[in-house]
Amino acid sequence: MPLIQRPRRNRATPGVRNLVRETHLHAHDLVWPMFVVEGDGRREPIGAMPGIDRLGIDLLVAEAERAHALGVPAVALFPALDDRLKNSTGTESLNPEGLLPRAIRALKRALPDLVVITDVALDPYSSDGHDGLYRDGRIVNDETLPLLAGMAVVQAAAGADVVAPSDMMDGRVAAIRAALDNAGHTDTAICSYCVKYASAFYGPFREALDSAPRAGDKKTYQMDPANAREVVREVALDEAEGADWLLVKPGLPYLDIVQRVRQATALPVAAYHVSGEYAMLRAAAHNGWLDYDRCLLESLTALKRAGADILFTYGAVDAARLLRQKA
Ligand code: PBG
Repeated sequence: MPLIQRPRRNRATPGVRNLVRETHLHAHDLVWPMFVVEGDGRREPIGAMPGIDRLGIDLLVAEAERAHALGVPAVALFPALDDRLKNSTGTESLNPEGLLPRAIRALKRALPDLVVITDVALDPYSSDGHDGLYRDGRIVNDETLPLLAGMAVVQAAAGADVVAPSDMMDGRVAAIRAALDNAGHTDTAICSYCVKYASAFYGPFREALDSAPRAGDKKTYQMDPANAREVVREVALDEAEGADWLLVKPGLPYLDIVQRVRQATALPVAAYHVSGEYAMLRAAAHNGWLDYDRCLLESLTALKRAGADILFTYGAVDAARLLRQKA
């Protein structure tokens, strides 16, 4: 019997493979999460995230310039605050002269075209290390909403293009949208961490911000990794509340979830290749067990293939450089 069907014909040469490729990764798909710390000239390595540092504002701007020059259009900012600025209600998040608003202004001054995405959640500012108000061992959902809305307005006023609530409180997208609009920030977009799981893959990030919960865990607000059906509900709520992008987090262990969100919405979908995923690649590569460059591009391609339009990754600059070399 002669073989009529030979799928290998479509894999025969680089030219053919380029023609039939379904998913194309671009530098302009990427968002680079960055950590900012007080003090010009400061650069503090993060143990479990080789290649990623906490940066003073001047170095943050310099690194963002490097990323932008490589074609990375956006950064996502996380402030690493001194413990002395943290308290139970996270009041520093409302300070217009705080570290994050100053970082936003410096970035927008140097790079007006850079898309600046900011995190909305209490944990970087909270002495409890929770994303919402924590009282008597419980998260106080509704009292958290005005705080989140207030910090989103401060971030928008400083120049953030997109505010990204990562806190997982119920009703926060609507509260943030209303507060932004009231303050005249009708053009500031909301990237909702719509489906965010209670994941152990956030470990290195919590080291970076020293933001691990001091008591309890985040399972009463972040989703159970065993669940997929409630994705439909979270998507419907965030759409109705006015989200502009929907984000899935973590990334690679949740490809089925990325695909579900893609099918459930017409909004842009983002996926967050989180700190633990980055750490795994770096650690294996450090031991000579994996090729970091190729595994990074493969991971990001898989997220895009599953349906993500926007890719948050600590490897954004590495990926942009690799894509440029390939081109
Ligand atoms: C918290 C927040 C977390 C991340 C982004 N925002 C961690 C958490 O929920 O504890 C994780 C990002 C990463 O691991 O790369 N608001």
